[in-house]
Order: sequence, then C-alpha cells, then structure tokens
Amino acid sequence: MSDALDFLVKTRPEAMGHYFAFLKDAGRHLDPKTRNLISVITKVHSQTERGLRQYLKRALREGATPLEVLDALLMAFPALGLAKITWAVDVMLSMKLPGFDRAAPADAVGWHDLMAEADLPPQGAVRIQCDGRALFVARGTSGVNAYDSHCPHQGTDIPELALQGGTLTCPKHGWAFDVASGDCVKNGTAPLTRYQTRIASGRVLAHW
Ligand code: FES
Repeated sequence: MSDALDFLVKTRPEAMGHYFAFLKDAGRHLDPKTRNLISVITKVHSQTERGLRQYLKRALREGATPLEVLDALLMAFPALGLAKITWAVDVMLSMKLPGFDRAAPADAVGWHDLMAEADLPPQGAVRIQCDGRALFVARGTSGVNAYDSHCPHQGTDIPELALQGGTLTCPKHGWAFDVASGDCVKNGTAPLTRYQTRIASGRVLAHW
C-alpha cells in the first residue's frame, strides 16, 4: 500500500473501509490469478511501482506465468500505451524474477545445473550463483529446494550473511524465512520465490 493510502486508512478508516470493501466485492466472481493480473494492469496504468511489484508477485504466486503477465499487459495496450508497458517491463526486469530476465527470456526457459547434491549440507542452505542468478539451495522435507535470492517483500537481494542455521533474515525489514520450506516465519507474509527442482545424476537442477 502506498504511504498516501496508508495515511488515508489511518485518518479516515470508515470511508476507506467502504472503498476496500467495494474493491473486494467487485472481484468476487474472479479467480485469484485473474484478480491479481487486473491489479497488475491498474498499477501499470497509474505507474505505481510499489503496487506493481506487489501484485506481480501475487499474480505469479496464484499461478500466472511470465508470458501470461506480458500478454495481459499487451492486451491492455489500448489503455496503457507503449510507454507505460515498457516502464512496467523495466520494473519487472529489475526484480530479477524467473522468466523476467534479459539473458533468459520467458519463452527460453530451461533447466540449469546448480550443484552436486552431495555438496549440500544436511541442514541450513548454501548461496550460489548460476547462469547470472543468485539462489539459496537447501534440503527440504521432500527433496531439494532452490529459492531466488530476492526478498518477496521489496526485492532486496539477500546476502549470504543473512543466513543463520535454518533461518534466512532479510536485512532490509527483517522478514525471516525457514530455508527448509521457504515459508516466512517472522515479520512478513509471503514465502521465498521457489524454483522447480529435480535431481539428475547426482546434480541439483532448477528450472527458470
Ligand atoms: S525487502 Fe526484505 S524484508 Fe523488506
């Protein structure tokens, strides 16, 4: 939420409560993915960067693919125009999310060789670089998990020093994550962005 909206919610809670209730009710027949894609478009239209980052992550979490996000923007071309769409794509590229990468466009995704499974510690995680991307790799309850190093809150690139045992704590606002599951366990609400993984010939592979 923007600082201005936050201020209005605190100073005029009744009026703003009606506004948010209206928004919620207006989208009740839409599935969460569609709702969040529409929110992405509205944030691009108003060029609200923080909102765009927030709703893009929600849309992806609800199952939207990077190509669907781009399609949604292009479908809204008559309202957005080229300048706002390129502004949005610049913001998306800066977030370094899977599928939004100059080096690996959304239609050129594939499997990447991260490391030998035997090099993974039994607990905790390791931070690695692979094909231009930083990741935390950890053993989970049902296999090996690989997470994007960027915080799901505001995109801070979380350093190795933020890792203490099985907990990763973002230095910016203190969101803490359990590296075995990726779940946020303190201060925040959203989990780490997780890549699909598999083991092949003793190597950990991740898909983006
Ligand atoms: S950016 Fe990581 S906690 Fe805010």
